[in-house]
Amino acid sequence: MTEKSTTSFDLNALVEELKSASRSAAPKPEVKAIMERVFHDPDTIRQHIPEFEEDEINLYEDEAISIWVCQFMPGSPIPPHDHQMPAMIGLYAGVERNRFFKLEAESKITETGYVDLNPGEILNITPTAIHTVECVSEEPSCGIHVYFGPLQSIDRSLFDQRAGTCLKFTEDTFNRLMVEQHRC
Ligand SMILES: [Fe+2]
Repeated sequence: MTEKSTTSFDLNALVEELKSASRSAAPKPEVKAIMERVFHDPDTIRQHIPEFEEDEINLYEDEAISIWVCQFMPGSPIPPHDHQMPAMIGLYAGVERNRFFKLEAESKITETGYVDLNPGEILNITPTAIHTVECVSEEPSCGIHVYFGPLQSIDRSLFDQRAGTCLKFTEDTFNRLMVEQHRC
């Protein structure tokens, strides 16, 4: 068995590897093994990953897997949402706080706790989990987010905490909630 080098990082090669794993008989353990191997050396990812102009870049999506590079700026949490599919986040820079919520009666949500993800760490998220993501480091937090399904076409939810409502996830609604929650 040959060990893959951990001293270089090729984003396109990672995407191809994750796509292949998603089509295997055991997608989750295979993707997890790839993520653990690659994120074992977060500095190498950081040094070799391309610079993107936008904060959230979809690298690939099909019925089996969606792969994103996500950068979050300090002090700008994204609204609570679910994915309706398992997800795996690997972090290579900054600190990304994932706050988790439980759904109460009438679409109200209450926080149950949070996980701070540091460079080199991987977080698994269950399909029905409701979370927010926020950068809590001085530098932006940067990670690769993998979803086991077609994230942009599946029906999933956003939660308006002020109104106590559950909304269909759309880009417009997401952007509206982003603006509203940062208004004092
Ligand atoms: Fe999410």
